[in-house]
Amino acid sequence: MMKISVTRIPLAELRVNLLVVPVPTGEARKTATAIGGDIGDALTRTLGDFSRELGSVALAYPSGTRSDRVALVGLGPAHKADVEALRVAAATGAGLAQKTDGTTAAIVVPRLGAISGEAAGQALVEGFRLASYKFARYKTRDIGGYDRTDRLILHAAGQEKAVRRGAERGRTVAEATCTARDLVNLSPHDKTPTLLGRAAERVARKSGFGITVWDKSAIEAERMGGLLAVNRGSMEPPVLIEMTWQPQNVVNSRPVVLIGKGIVFDTGGLSLKPTRNAMDQMKADMAGGAAVIAVMEALARLRIPVYVVGLVPATDNRPGQRAYVPGDVVTMHSGNTVEVLNTDAEGRMVLADALSYAKIFRPELAITLATLTGAQRVAYGSRVAAAMTNQGPIDKLFAAGETSGDFVHSMPMHAHYAEAMESEVADIRNVGKEREAGAIQAAKFLEFFVDYDWLHVDFAGPSFLQHALPYRPKGGTGFGVRLIVEFLSRMAKERKR
Ligand code: BES
Ligand code: MN
Ligand code: ZN
Repeated sequence: MMKISVTRIPLAELRVNLLVVPVPTGEARKTATAIGGDIGDALTRTLGDFSRELGSVALAYPSGTRSDRVALVGLGPAHKADVEALRVAAATGAGLAQKTDGTTAAIVVPRLGAISGEAAGQALVEGFRLASYKFARYKTRDIGGYDRTDRLILHAAGQEKAVRRGAERGRTVAEATCTARDLVNLSPHDKTPTLLGRAAERVARKSGFGITVWDKSAIEAERMGGLLAVNRGSMEPPVLIEMTWQPQNVVNSRPVVLIGKGIVFDTGGLSLKPTRNAMDQMKADMAGGAAVIAVMEALARLRIPVYVVGLVPATDNRPGQRAYVPGDVVTMHSGNTVEVLNTDAEGRMVLADALSYAKIFRPELAITLATLTGAQRVAYGSRVAAAMTNQGPIDKLFAAGETSGDFVHSMPMHAHYAEAMESEVADIRNVGKEREAGAIQAAKFLEFFVDYDWLHVDFAGPSFLQHALPYRPKGGTGFGVRLIVEFLSRMAKERKR
């Protein structure tokens, strides 16, 4: 557990193992002079070693202070320094804190005209906390090096109140993001649908939102044909996790429904995936569901006044004696029929049922979060998710992405994309006739089941990494948690005014 606090005591009196000083390009001397005293002197002497770019570092060991070492960390050009630059700088600090001796660290909150104290506090804590994450559950020996910092102090001369508010928020959001990472990184046999439901119940109990985990008989009674079809090859029964956050002071009467793809393992089914660089990553196919569970955690802990329902249809997708087959026609929850031509297009089958089920809530807006298509990763890579919509507030989602660091960019949804999904024998097919615009075709399939405002986030690329990025480790990233928390926080703020 990392303790986080904010202080304004003189820097020379701060006693930590590592003191991190973010420095805008070209302002190293200015920063050192402003700090002054022994620390400022020591920093001035290290300036020659400091390249000043975003992420660059130089260490100094000043005498006459209580801290063991001071690190200059490059922020990039001052006029470009945004909250993402603060996250990256803090992540660099976290990396040093793990590599050097000690368990306590402090960051000097830089004064940047364009960034409020609150935003700076949040970004620095997010960057530091998210970069200190390590998934060690299956290591039987100490892997060392990570998560060693047990105390992080933000040094804010002036505006400590705002910085403290931001830091508190950053901690909660980062911890929720790590909840999602942990679930994604879990071994598939430790997150069968039933176990995933239990994990969600534990999160609900700890953070204080409502939850019901519907079992197979309830799913059958509700006639969720898509979820049941995907589940047919499995030894494990499916679940539908339904979560509710509805505090007294909500700003909306009809809920925002969040729907996360909960395929706990995707073999492709009878349309089997190859192992390398395909099936070997498919424990992460519940990253949408993990993000929804973690968003509920953050909403409840931050007491965000928005009425939200979270839905996670969960099953694995496997070949098996009873598995659904290419050519099967499935009657969905909505009553519509789907011609299944590829059992590996399973995510849209379970999401379509959840979207149809969501109608009982009369949603103001639904948001699907899903590792839906390899095409998304091919198009946008590992840092940006694809967003699509029928008529939802996609600009607001984009804006939330820019602030949160979970970047999204839109894809087109013109009517002609639906032509590829026309079926001769059923109402719709589950894969396009051509292998083009795969992420859009999948979204068009989902749109068929929707008659309310809806946003769709396909994050196959950003959800699970083969190579670490700043503050995102290899493996599960928790992408989407900060995006949706930011989106809903803005909604609460806007309406309260
Ligand atoms: N879970 C996959 C998508 C995926 C691919 C996620 C790579 C993360 C990384 C999804 O169920 C899938 O298999 N999609 C198919 C759809 C195709 C059959 C139309 C795909 O993308 O190949
Ligand atoms: Mn699949
Ligand atoms: Zn899948």
